[in-house]
Amino acid sequence: MKKTLVIFAHPKFEKSRVNAQLVNVLKTKNHVTFHDLYEHYPHFHIDVKKEQTLLEQHDVIIWHHPFYWYSSPALLKQWIDMVLEFNWAYGPEGNALQGKTVMNVITTGGSRDVYCSEGYNSFTVNQFLRPFEQTANLCGMKYLPPFAVMGTHKLQDDALKNYTQQYEKLIDVLQSDFVTETLSNCLFLNDLPILSH
Ligand SMILES: Cc1cc2nc3c(=O)[nH]c(=O)nc-3n(C[C@H](O)[C@H](O)[C@H](O)COP(=O)(O)O)c2cc1C
Repeated sequence: MKKTLVIFAHPKFEKSRVNAQLVNVLKTKNHVTFHDLYEHYPHFHIDVKKEQTLLEQHDVIIWHHPFYWYSSPALLKQWIDMVLEFNWAYGPEGNALQGKTVMNVITTGGSRDVYCSEGYNSFTVNQFLRPFEQTANLCGMKYLPPFAVMGTHKLQDDALKNYTQQYEKLIDVLQSDFVTETLSNCLFLNDLPILSH
């Protein structure tokens, strides 16, 4: 079974409604490590060696965060800047992450229909996530489409429950012997039929 590391970044987790529900499903899962960055590093002093060791011990990495200003909260960017070192994550001798799978799990205030060229956010979520995708590419990781809970401001409880169930199934799929290509053929992993059953 593949081991999954959830790198979680939410600067106001105590006020969270949506992510609080989503991360609840992780607690019941075996072989899943939930790693709350703001809890460990409230002052942004990241223990680089500890983070690299954690990464080495896992096969699937999830960057789980609310969408803040079309990207991640600042501590996740700091984590990327500090942890993905030259000649460790990339560069001539940097192959520590080669072949691992990585993806974003995000929540957005904006609904799906405002994230397009005609919508008021002008670009798709997938376009906004390109820096994460290319970071994964540079490090030799397989980047999967995001799992996104969108329109959080108006999200009803039953819809949120449905998303948490989907997230739980997604974790199961990611731990199985999945073929990356079959998961890459969609804009959002939410769209996978296997998550609806
Ligand atoms: C500082 C800040 C920036 C945000 N930026 C965006 C954004 O760029 N796009 C968007 O759709 N929602 C944005 N939001 C809304 C959050 O994504 C949304 O409130 C969050 O995903 C809800 O999850 P929670 O209940 O776990 O906090 C922003 C919220 C804050 C506080």
